[in-house]
Amino acid sequence: MENPSHSKRIFSGIQPTGNLTIGNYLGAVKRWVKLQAEKIDTIYCIVDLHAATIWQEPRELKESTRELVASLLACGLNPEESTLFNQSQVSVHSELAWIFNCVARIGWLNRMTQFKDKAGKDREKASVGLFAYPTLMAADILAYKATHVPVGEDQKQHLELTRDIASKFNLDYKVRNFFPLPEPLIEGAATRVMSLRDGQKKMSKSDPSDFSRINLNDNNDLINQKIKKAKTDPYPLPDSLVELQERPEALNLINIYAALSDKTPEAVLIEFSGKTFSYFKPKLAELTVDQICPISDKMKALQKDPSYIDSVLENGSVEAEKIANPIIDEVYEIVGLIRKRRQH
Ligand code: AMP
Ligand code: TRP
Repeated sequence: MENPSHSKRIFSGIQPTGNLTIGNYLGAVKRWVKLQAEKIDTIYCIVDLHAATIWQEPRELKESTRELVASLLACGLNPEESTLFNQSQVSVHSELAWIFNCVARIGWLNRMTQFKDKAGKDREKASVGLFAYPTLMAADILAYKATHVPVGEDQKQHLELTRDIASKFNLDYKVRNFFPLPEPLIEGAATRVMSLRDGQKKMSKSDPSDFSRINLNDNNDLINQKIKKAKTDPYPLPDSLVELQERPEALNLINIYAALSDKTPEAVLIEFSGKTFSYFKPKLAELTVDQICPISDKMKALQKDPSYIDSVLENGSVEAEKIANPIIDEVYEIVGLIRKRRQH
């Protein structure tokens, strides 16, 4: 047992950079909504400070943040049941991130593949924030002593680092079990949705080709076109997953279908075995439109009321602070920092 005495608490975060894709939806948000329905303590955060590790136009950042809230609400997150807020409104995230910058080792951060990917060839020109991104992420999670973190597969390494930071803090300061060692929840058929143009590449908001992804605000026609044009192969669908291992594009479409319909990929293959893509693709498009279009309609309605969106974030951040403030007070005490007493 790694987390004795820590009660189950879910935390996850998402960056306000561009439209949500079906990858974000299936890999993360759809599962967040499920966990919320299980009446577990769920905290979801729009990580605007993480977005700032790469240049963002200030006005666009605010807009993207509000747009993301609208998408999350449209996907079924309920501010009455989950705590939903933006990271920068709760200063504990930045405060704890600094402490963790002093706990984490440069060698650990040097191994992070997301930094290598995002920094590209000229690493010297990347922001210090981009390098320290994972310590802020660890702070997001541990500011609430969260025990479980639902994410897509790309975040696994960051979660391992979070556990390393929690362990080292507990060990260095001799506060055994103070921070839990949070566990990633990487589950389901769509933990890594791939690009529709290249089955070896992750579907991403930032891919230059819009035809590589399905966005949650794409309309019926566009979804149909994108699925029709999605790269596949000339062979019919087999009846077992093993035979799809060498066919990444085909596997990806099966996984998307499975995740959208809450079935296993095996069950989907049994349904479609022997069928060609000209049969399967329209079925996939229909299912996608059925699930995505109601979300984008709700999103548009919600976006008409930015003051409601802002009030959701403000209320959420008050709730978040109720949990995080006592924890950071304890951290400062443990580290030996003198603080003025809080006004209640
Ligand atoms: P980001 O857009 O990078 O802030 O990611 C938000 C969440 O979506 C994280 O939990 C990611 O792991 C997840 N995610 C992003 N892209 C994909 C993808 N292509 N497939 C599955 N999950 C994804
Ligand atoms: N790094 C995550 C991503 O790019 C976003 C994120 C920030 C996050 N803080 C988090 C995810 C805390 C889970 C928990 O997708």
